[in-house]
Amino acid sequence: MTTALCPGSYDPPTNGHVDVIARTAAMFERVVVSVVENPSKNPMFTSTERIELLRASLPDTPNVEYDVFTGLLVDHVVDRGIDVVVKGLRTSSDFDYELQMAQMNATIRGVETVFIPTSPAWSFVSSTLVREVARLGGSVDELVPAPVAAALKEKLS
Ligand code: PNS
Repeated sequence: MTTALCPGSYDPPTNGHVDVIARTAAMFERVVVSVVENPSKNPMFTSTERIELLRASLPDTPNVEYDVFTGLLVDHVVDRGIDVVVKGLRTSSDFDYELQMAQMNATIRGVETVFIPTSPAWSFVSSTLVREVARLGGSVDELVPAPVAAALKEKLS
């Protein structure tokens, strides 16, 4: 059985994230979606909230499970018996950064990464921009799953 990992900040999850996770779940037998907990960052949503938002945004699929990790991604990959990391690519600048991380992860612990292109509809969407637009009163309803749109409104009200 091949297990894939979809890691990310997911602060908050966007339609682009959901698209990549759903397509990964259709390709691999088991998928772990892991939210990074970075003590030096101050996220809008706690890791528990981010996992709840991911669960609420994706169909209840038996081969998808959720987790939180801290520290190095490669240690989480090895600890959880994961075979491959899957990353969505939106732009060529994503590729430049992701390639560096993939090569580092392969070098330090032999962890392989597979890239899949983000659907064009979501190639401009990032959690950072979603947070900024929402904070400044713009609508992100078309860019994030409905549970995330509701959580943003509640958080910012
Ligand atoms: O959603 P993001 O912010 O693009 O996710 C990036 C993430 C969490 C996958 C990346 O920052 C990561 O792997 N962080 C864990 C720390 C780590 O392993 N750093 C070395 C990378 S080579």
